[in-house]
Amino acid sequence: MDMQEIERLKREQDAVILAHYYVDAQVQAMADYVGDSFYLAKVASKADKGTIVFCGVRFMGESAKILNPNRRVLLPDESADCPMAHMAQEAQIAKLKAEVPDLAVVCYINSSAKLKALCDVCVTSSNAVKIVSSLSEKNILFIPDENLGRYVSEKLPGKTFYYSGGYCPVHAVLLAGDAESELRAHPDAELLVHPECRAEVCAKAAFVGSTSEIIEYAQKSASKEFILGTEPGVLYELQRRCAGKKFYPITPECLDMKKVTQEKVLACLHGGGYEVKMEAALMDAARRPLERMLELAK
Ligand code: 13P
Ligand code: SF4
Repeated sequence: MDMQEIERLKREQDAVILAHYYVDAQVQAMADYVGDSFYLAKVASKADKGTIVFCGVRFMGESAKILNPNRRVLLPDESADCPMAHMAQEAQIAKLKAEVPDLAVVCYINSSAKLKALCDVCVTSSNAVKIVSSLSEKNILFIPDENLGRYVSEKLPGKTFYYSGGYCPVHAVLLAGDAESELRAHPDAELLVHPECRAEVCAKAAFVGSTSEIIEYAQKSASKEFILGTEPGVLYELQRRCAGKKFYPITPECLDMKKVTQEKVLACLHGGGYEVKMEAALMDAARRPLERMLELAK
């Protein structure tokens, strides 16, 4: 990959490249900003280039467009979508809103713009506990990820949680038995997991956190070996920051994140890619909970 040529194309297109830790290492290497969902949402909201090339899944591109509507947001692969982003129903939310008083609807950022528009506030895995704890409502409908919701609920026993039953197919396949056998195979290793993992897996972990929090933990920890309960794309940054440490990934790849390839990012810089577009009314409705997240996370 000719990095000078990429820089030239970025200047020519007035483009900035954002990438999530789960995309391929070669794609992360092309990016101006690499990070977790919260960091990328903040960067996208302030981006001053005409075009944002978002190397991630659809909800990330949608959030970037909603938060910075005057920019052109390009996704390298139109079909790269997070299956969990659709795992809640409008009728389900409406029913609970009608039945449960003093209820806040909290939406994980891994959700479609349509779902966000029905909610009071968005959260990501790195700010969910902080944001939900700051809400005055006693009752919380947490959509779509039940595992993250249950993780937050354990930290906030004063609130009552309801769920839509969604899950991440990458993290939820990991069972407690898998974690146990890896810990037996690597007795000196610490288990680091994402809160999208099942509660019984999180219970066995030395640390539970977002992708960037896992990376920071591994960098600071005195341990030399780690079992990794999150998407293996984070290995690129872990190996860059943690020379001499060993990582054993046990979570499968997110096939949607892996649809983003170097070639497709290059195509964006040559005038291709898929432009994220939504109706103004939908963007306005979904902007409210996203902006509230940015405010409450400060
Ligand atoms: P974070 O970026 O918040 O760690 O979330 C991971 C994820 O699953 C993104 O799809
Ligand atoms: Fe969605 Fe899970 Fe992939 Fe993240 S890892 S984009 S939550 S399917």
